[in-house]
Amino acid sequence: MQLLDGKATAEKIREELKLAVETRKSRGQKIPHLAAVIVGSDGASRTYVNSKVKTCEKVGFKSTLIELATDISEEELLAKVNDLNLDDEIDGFIVQLPLPKHIDEHKITLAIRPSKDVDGFHPENIGRMMLNLPCFLPATPAGIVELLDRYAIETSGKHCVVIGRSNIVGSPMSILMWRNAKIGNCTVTITHSRTKHLDEISKSADILIVALGKPEFVTKDMVKDGAVVVDVGIHRVEDASRRSGFKLLGDVKFDEVAPKCSFISPVPGGVGPMTIASLMINTLRAMDLKGN
Ligand code: GUN
Repeated sequence: MQLLDGKATAEKIREELKLAVETRKSRGQKIPHLAAVIVGSDGASRTYVNSKVKTCEKVGFKSTLIELATDISEEELLAKVNDLNLDDEIDGFIVQLPLPKHIDEHKITLAIRPSKDVDGFHPENIGRMMLNLPCFLPATPAGIVELLDRYAIETSGKHCVVIGRSNIVGSPMSILMWRNAKIGNCTVTITHSRTKHLDEISKSADILIVALGKPEFVTKDMVKDGAVVVDVGIHRVEDASRRSGFKLLGDVKFDEVAPKCSFISPVPGGVGPMTIASLMINTLRAMDLKGN
């Protein structure tokens, strides 16, 4: 069994990005500038957004964090999105999800200019992804593709099972794995909460991508010997034996599943760091496409 080490891979990508920034600076170009909007005070969202801002610093990007109150109206948030669309200084921006219940996430996503949509959530980017046209790929699926690529995982002709059909991970992931691309050309089965005989299906996977959001859901009897397993879940679970008072678990029962795998991504240190690395890649691309 070999680990798909997202932490080390993301570190390598950060070094590559740093160099890319230096090259552009030496040509007299500006440096990439990412803005992140967070609404409210959800702890997990804050942690994610802070990591994104911190990574910008690490790779030499500019970043702007826009913190808005939970009770902001939908109109006010739409106005903020429009300001960012029009702000020439900002190359790309994200609105961290989930949003408070009184705000329609689809409306906000649709309002983001596709050329600045570095999360790749706008229907124009999703549609272009479907058609294998240049676009911004959603960060988590793109990070997984990058990880599989850098570990030279053969995907062509393989059976890929995706567990979970979210707009952010499961659905786009399934598309990327069937597309005609270097990492792709799989036969894909997408499964979800209504799927019957999930364990039989997951057991037939050469590549199993788990993004359903339930701690340690995938057990050893659900995985084929030699499978490649990618765990997208991340859960804080109380653990009194640790000084922090909690531990992080994925959607896969790592200790019992790992010995059966050819490759497996750990939690933490697997998909998480790759998601942020992909966001940075998209931001650099957004600047390059703008041509400044
Ligand atoms: N919430 C969970 N993951 C993401 C992400 O990749 N982007 C945004 N904007 N919100 C998220």
